[in-house]
Amino acid sequence: MPIPAPNLYPSFNIVRLSHVELTVTDLAASRAFYVDTLGLQVTGEEDGRLYLRAMEERNHHCLVLREGDKAVADALAFKVYDEQGLDMAEKFFKDKGLPVEWIERPFQGRTFVTRDPHGIPLEFYTRMDRLPPIHQQYKLYNGVKPLRIDHFNCFSPNVDESVAFYSELGFRVTEYTEDEVSKHLWAAWMHRKGGVHDMAFTNGLGPRLHHVAFWVPTPLNIVDLLDLMATTGYVGNIERGPGRHGISNAFFLYVRDPDLHRIEIYCSDYLTVDPDHEPIKWDLKDPQRQTLWGAPAPRSWFEEGTLFKGVEPQESQLAAQPIVAP
Ligand SMILES: [Fe+2]
Repeated sequence: MPIPAPNLYPSFNIVRLSHVELTVTDLAASRAFYVDTLGLQVTGEEDGRLYLRAMEERNHHCLVLREGDKAVADALAFKVYDEQGLDMAEKFFKDKGLPVEWIERPFQGRTFVTRDPHGIPLEFYTRMDRLPPIHQQYKLYNGVKPLRIDHFNCFSPNVDESVAFYSELGFRVTEYTEDEVSKHLWAAWMHRKGGVHDMAFTNGLGPRLHHVAFWVPTPLNIVDLLDLMATTGYVGNIERGPGRHGISNAFFLYVRDPDLHRIEIYCSDYLTVDPDHEPIKWDLKDPQRQTLWGAPAPRSWFEEGTLFKGVEPQESQLAAQPIVAP
């Protein structure tokens, strides 16, 4: 199935992915992981929620941790360019027959939540409280020195359908994996902000959140994080990598937080702003697709993910199997 032509003139402009709220079962344990180990900065703590940002972000938060009984993900949040666009976004979702609810969010202006056609909870807003820059306060850098949130990756029960919908929203495909037998999409990477992706989809029981990624300055920061995790009780939380992806060319590491939410540490992908940027196609059976150096991912990476709050995932419709580590 061919990927859709890019929609270069959507009726509103999504600037980029913005933030996510994760429910965690022990906020102190999560704080030790995200703040003391990864190095995210605390920007607020109220009503049982911990608000965090990375070093070069001016937005108040990119990650919200909330303590609860079950480790789930709330809405994936995206920033819209202006208030008029936010109203156009509301119209877009209502015209599709999808639910729209305006809600109050601390530190944010007008915000609505909705769902994509598979049920992924989405949040859109334009204004968030802005904080002073800290990217040159080097005494604050800690852990893996996270600079900014980079992307979400979700399991999708039908990647063809996910790509069609997000294309309408103005997301453009940069790379994709096709099953050479059925000719259906097995995975796709789609961007708004000019990197390889803001949002990616992987075939599987879904929708579920596969991972949230943070951009770091260099691969050496990833090596430092591995040394830190290996000697502070987190060796079992290292899942995959370090390595270089074939897709995106980025240097990567996947780790699991204390509730098994998956976090990718990521750097050095490439610029994709040209409107005529050609997507790169990968074969699902290409051993350099996942990792340029050839090492396949473990089975957990293909099968485990975070449930979205209140969403029952469905089996994927495509049975094609990736290469899995023995
Ligand atoms: Fe990723």
